[in-house]
Amino acid sequence: MTEQMLKEAFYWFHQNPELSYEEYKTTAKIRELLEKEGIEILPCKLETGLAAVIRGKRQGPVQALRCDIDALPIREESGLPYSSLCPGKMHACGHDFHITAGIGTALILQEKREALKGSVRILFQPGEESSLGALKMLETDVMEGVERIWGIHADPTNPVHTIGIREGYVAAAVDRFVVTIQGVGCHGAHPDDGTDPIPAAAAMVQAFQTIVSRNVNAFHPSLLSVTRIQAGNTWNVIPETAWLEGTVRTMEREDRHLYEKRLREIAEQTARAYGAAADVEWIPGPPAVYNDGGMAELGKRKALEQGFLVAEEERSLGGDDFSFYTERIPGCYIKIGTGKGQLIHQPGFRADPDALLPAAQYLAGLLLEP
Ligand code: NI
Repeated sequence: MTEQMLKEAFYWFHQNPELSYEEYKTTAKIRELLEKEGIEILPCKLETGLAAVIRGKRQGPVQALRCDIDALPIREESGLPYSSLCPGKMHACGHDFHITAGIGTALILQEKREALKGSVRILFQPGEESSLGALKMLETDVMEGVERIWGIHADPTNPVHTIGIREGYVAAAVDRFVVTIQGVGCHGAHPDDGTDPIPAAAAMVQAFQTIVSRNVNAFHPSLLSVTRIQAGNTWNVIPETAWLEGTVRTMEREDRHLYEKRLREIAEQTARAYGAAADVEWIPGPPAVYNDGGMAELGKRKALEQGFLVAEEERSLGGDDFSFYTERIPGCYIKIGTGKGQLIHQPGFRADPDALLPAAQYLAGLLLEP
């Protein structure tokens, strides 16, 4: 495998982004590139995405590397010569980089099978942006017997040849809530004839922030954002219903339950204080991503041995469904410097293709030393 081959594959994936669970062409291309090099694809019932396996010649554990493969509904404005050919879709989270680095890793390991202890499964996972794609992989048997798992993410806050790594929590649990506030509609000039749900909604928006400032341990990172508020459809009618929607991000497991409990109490009791009623829907997403200490140490050591700069990985209250794996087995989520520039999920995001081969070499090095 040459660096040029990797870059060309990357350009293809970048030009052909597909949204969550629509990654058919992407899956076919990954399969084609792997099979051409004689790499075994595991049989598993997945609509999109696939898992490859490299079987070492020596005894050892089963390890996995997760590479997510989906793109975002963003119109690309990167100005790259190999920009998206699909209007309104873009690999703005660098998952094209993950795919290609994963293929590169597979090819290197295939060449080094004599030295490989145990086996390595490379999971090309669909639907990460939906927050639930990891569950699709976990429904199949590709994770059976896997003892530990590595995950990667492109990092536009660091230059190429930088590895960001840290032990412990690195990304948040992602939960969503919807509050429905029920009042009694009436004429805008006669609020005394009804129950206005809007003041109750406004009071809740304020009061929810006291969960962050008054209830949660001040040393635990967490936040709550109300991101949608909706009520009424004209200027002279008091509506009967108001809605609030938002997200809660936490790292410690206990805080997740605390938020849900306090959010329900505040919503229900505030509504009652205003003569209205509130119903809270709590929609749990992926848990927080936790990096195993031993794996993080190994990751740092290997990076230094290979001449990378090692940076303390920034913790984020963003989420990644990689946590569904680390909830079950030890794992480590590593950030790979892809050149400083616009952040992920922005239309001008770029991942420098010069980071591909070093990333694949680094990951192969990690997997060769279980
Ligand atoms: Ni991503």
